Amino acid sequence: MKAEQPARAWWKEAAVYQIYPRSFCDSNGDGVGDLQGILGKLDYVQRLGVDVIWLNPIYRSPGVDNGYDISDYRSIDPRFGTMADFERLLAEVHRRGMRLVMDLVVNHTSDEHPWFIESRQSKTSPKRDWYIWQDGAQGGAPNNWGANFGGSAWTRDEATGQYYLHLFAPQQPDLNWENPAVRDAVFDMMDFWFRKGIDGFRMDVISLISKAGYADGPLLPGGQYGDPMPQCANGPRVHEFLREMDRRVLSRYDCLTVGENAGNTPELACRYAGFDAGELKMTFQFDLMDVDGGERDKWNACRRWKLADIKSVMTRWQTQLDGKAWNALFWENHDQPRSVSRFGDTSSEERRVRSAKMLATCLFLMQGTPYIFQGEELGLVNRHFASLEEIDDLQTRGNCADRLARGVPMENVMAVVNYISREHARAPMPWSDAPNGGFTTGVPWVPLHPGYTGLNAENQLRDPDSVYNYYRALLALRKGSMVLLYGHYALQMPESEQVYAYTRTLNGQTALIVCNFSGQAADCPLLSAWAGRPPALANYAGGPENRTLRPYECAVYLE
Ligand code: GLC
Repeated sequence: MKAEQPARAWWKEAAVYQIYPRSFCDSNGDGVGDLQGILGKLDYVQRLGVDVIWLNPIYRSPGVDNGYDISDYRSIDPRFGTMADFERLLAEVHRRGMRLVMDLVVNHTSDEHPWFIESRQSKTSPKRDWYIWQDGAQGGAPNNWGANFGGSAWTRDEATGQYYLHLFAPQQPDLNWENPAVRDAVFDMMDFWFRKGIDGFRMDVISLISKAGYADGPLLPGGQYGDPMPQCANGPRVHEFLREMDRRVLSRYDCLTVGENAGNTPELACRYAGFDAGELKMTFQFDLMDVDGGERDKWNACRRWKLADIKSVMTRWQTQLDGKAWNALFWENHDQPRSVSRFGDTSSEERRVRSAKMLATCLFLMQGTPYIFQGEELGLVNRHFASLEEIDDLQTRGNCADRLARGVPMENVMAVVNYISREHARAPMPWSDAPNGGFTTGVPWVPLHPGYTGLNAENQLRDPDSVYNYYRALLALRKGSMVLLYGHYALQMPESEQVYAYTRTLNGQTALIVCNFSGQAADCPLLSAWAGRPPALANYAGGPENRTLRPYECAVYLE
C-alpha cells in the first residue's frame, strides 16, 4: 500500500501557461509581440483556468536565438517594452491571483554581453575565466564536439587565437560555472528578479552547466561531429551548483522552479527534484518527445510513434517519481511542433478537435503539473513550409545546412522540417478573423498559419464545444479533485494498441481516464464497470456508448 498523498503545494496543483512573447500579441504594430500585448490578453489566459504564466526570455538580447542569447540580464528588451511595462504586467498577473515565472538562461550568454566582450579581449582579461577558452588542436577546434544548432561547438577568436565553447550558436558562448564569480553574478541576478516579485524560473538547459571534460565525443549521425552530451549533461558538479543556488537564492522564496534537463531519466529527476533534494521543484523529461526520433536524431529520421512507446515512457515516469518527485507534463513548447499534428489527427476539422481534446485529457490528468503552450488550447496545427527560405529558426536552418552538406536530398530535409521543426510553434497567435489574426496591425515577424480565419481564439471562446472551452473544463476538473491532483497512477489495458487507459487512486477513491488514440472504434472493456454512470468529462456528448470508444474519444470517470 502506497503512502497517502504527497504534501500539498501550490506548484503541484497549478497549471502553467507558456507565453512566447514574440508571437503572442503585438500592441504597437511593429510585427513583434510585446508586454503590453500580453497585458491586453490576461483575461483570456485567466479564463482558461491556469495559475502560472511562464514567459520565454524578454531580457535585452540581439535576438540571434530569439532571446536565448542575453546581453543584459537586468533589462527588458526594447522590442518587448520597458521595465515599467514588466512591472505593470507582474502586478496585473498577481492581482488576478496568478503567478509569473521567467526563463533563466545561464548556461550561456550572448556574445554581446559585456562579460564576454571583456573576456575575449585578452588572455589576461579579468573576465577571461568567465567563459570556456581553449587552445586549438592540430590546427583546428580543441575537440570534435558539434553544436546543437549545427557546425562545431568551438569558434576561434581572432583577438587571442584561442577557441571558446558554445554548445548552441557561436553567438551563445558557454559560461564557466567552475568560476565562483560567475555563480555569484548569476545568483545576484536571480535575486534581483525575485525582489521584483516574480514567482520562479524555468531553467534553460540547466543540466549542462557542469562540464566533465573536453575529450572527443562519440560521433553523431553523419559522422562529422562528436556528441558533447556525455561530458556536458549531468556533469560532476551540477548538483553542487544547484544546491548552492538553492541555499543562496531559491530557498528564500516560495517559488516554482523547473529544469530543462537534457538527458533526463526518472533516477536523475529524483536527484534534481526529489522532494528532499534541495535543488529544483521539478524537471522536464524528453523521453516523450523522443518517441518519434531522439533530439539528436530528429533531423535524420522521424519514425512514426507507437502508442506502446508513449505508454511505456509515461508509465515509467509516473510510477518511478510517485512519492519521490513531481512530474512536469507537456506535449508542446516553443521547441516542438504542434501536438495535434504530431500525435493527433488533422485530416478533418472534427478529428482535429476531438484528438486535441483527447491528447490534453490523456496527459494533463496524470500526476504532475501541466504546461500548456500558447495556442495548444486552441488545437493549433503545424504550418506547411515549401522551402527553407520560409524558416526563421536558427536550429532548423543550422541542422538542415549540415544535412544538405552531407548530400541528403532537399525533399527529405523538408519532410523532416514539416514534421518536427520548432518553427511551427512560433507562428503568431490567431486571435480573430481580422487581418493577421488580430496579432498585429503591421507585418508579423513570421507569417501566421493561413487557417487563422477559421481557427482562432475569438471563434473558440464563443463555441461551447471548442478545444479552448474543453481545456477550461479539464483544468477545472483537475483542480477540484484531490484524486486527479495527487492520486497514484496505474496503467490499464497495457496491450491495447489503440487505447491509453489509466487509473488514479487516492485514499480509496478512483478515477478512470480512457483515451482512444486511433481513428477507428476501439473496444474498451473497462467501461463495463462504469456503465450507467455519466463521465465527469468527455469529448463526445454524453460520453462513450457501451464498451466502445469512437475515433479519438476520451472520457474521465470519477468515483
Ligand atoms: C533551450 C531552449 C531553446 C534554446 C536553447 C538554447 O533548449 O528551450 O529554445 O534555443 O535552449 O538556449
